[in-house]
Amino acid sequence: MNKVRFGIIGIGKMGSQHCMRFTHGLIKNAVLTAVCDISPDRKKWAEEKLVSKGVEFFDDYKSLIDSGKVDAVLIATPHYDHPVIAVYALEKGLHTLIEKPAGVYTKAVREMNEVAAAKPELVFGIMYNQRTNKLYRFAKELVESGRLGGIKRINWIITNWYRPQAYYDQGGWRGTWAGEGGGVLINQCPHQLDLFQWLGGMPVSVTAHAEIGKNRNINVENDVTAFMEYANGATGVFITSTHDFPGTNRLEIDADKGKLVIEGGKLTFTELAVGETEFNAKNKKFMPRIPSKKIKKSIGLIGQAKMFFFEQHTGIINNFVSAILFKTPLIAPGADGIRGLTISNAIHLSAWTGEKVVLPIDEDKFIEELEKRKAEEKIKSKKQA
Ligand SMILES: NC(=O)c1ccc[n+]([C@@H]2O[C@H](COP(=O)([O-])OP(=O)(O)OC[C@H]3O[C@@H](n4cnc5c(N)ncnc54)[C@H](O)[C@@H]3O)[C@@H](O)[C@H]2O)c1
Repeated sequence: MNKVRFGIIGIGKMGSQHCMRFTHGLIKNAVLTAVCDISPDRKKWAEEKLVSKGVEFFDDYKSLIDSGKVDAVLIATPHYDHPVIAVYALEKGLHTLIEKPAGVYTKAVREMNEVAAAKPELVFGIMYNQRTNKLYRFAKELVESGRLGGIKRINWIITNWYRPQAYYDQGGWRGTWAGEGGGVLINQCPHQLDLFQWLGGMPVSVTAHAEIGKNRNINVENDVTAFMEYANGATGVFITSTHDFPGTNRLEIDADKGKLVIEGGKLTFTELAVGETEFNAKNKKFMPRIPSKKIKKSIGLIGQAKMFFFEQHTGIINNFVSAILFKTPLIAPGADGIRGLTISNAIHLSAWTGEKVVLPIDEDKFIEELEKRKAEEKIKSKKQA
């Protein structure tokens, strides 16, 4: 194979942008040959924009996957379907790239991962496009090289996912348990929850508070504060919302050899001359300061926006194609999707039960609680009708 033939399943807002990345020549060594959507409007769009370019339209994902016209699929449907379609594609021998989140609940995602693991000849990736962000990549290097030292505290305030009522009033699958599987945790934050664990590792327990419809008329959470504990005694706090304006996007990691802050398109690493543990063991002064130097990297807010629109998703798709053709390591392996989702499910479960959740989560309990919310939502919408 010298060009990977791609099919995109779900050509709504995100899927149609992915189509354009192919038709504008941004994806190397690959060609878009097929697309699929269940919506007549999207079919019309595909007929106008893609069919003339030789792209075939399907209104059913199984027909696209079975068509023999694609070597790989990119799945950009609503969340519940990601593992369902991915399992079908992998079982039919297609390389598979899923949009975030990996799914709504870990049980389905774990089963998807098992299918993928049984097919090591297939590339399985996830669209964690923010892993291509240069600042987070530098942070990852600092963590992995040991230069940052043992992490003591990781805090992320990510409240700049502002979504007004009009966003939720678009209707469809958004802002509901049945359609989306949650709110800010499952739609907007999977990127940060992934980076949170990519940089800080997995917590051993989660205690959380999540408010449903704060300042918004929605059924799902849009204001979350979660506290995490780690095996080495470190702690983490993750705060997110969709109703604060202006919001904040600040990641702060305190570690033995320094402090890392990423905010506003800038990274600042305050590197200690000597690790705090070692310093403290020898120090005799009451109020000392540990000598340090500052290392700064900046891409700025405009650079960050440019990267988001033109480089991040394109980077993940190009890396996925390279993994198929040249065995390049994946930036975001599909199997990693369960990690951020586990934190997300644990936050929901803790908020629902009012209890600390110890990982691994009780998958059946999570599904039971989710189903309760879906049933209540159904009754509510019947009453409103
Ligand atoms: N990585 C990112 O930066 C990013 C940004 C936005 C959205 N997303 C993700 O992309 C996915 C899609 O989001 P969106 O905003 O494009 O939603 P959307 O509603 O605009 O598009 C989803 C499309 O999927 C179609 N669809 C639904 N079920 C289908 C099925 N069974 N088979 C084929 N098509 C089906 C719908 O008709 C719709 O056109 C979600 O997982 C979302 O979280 C990712």
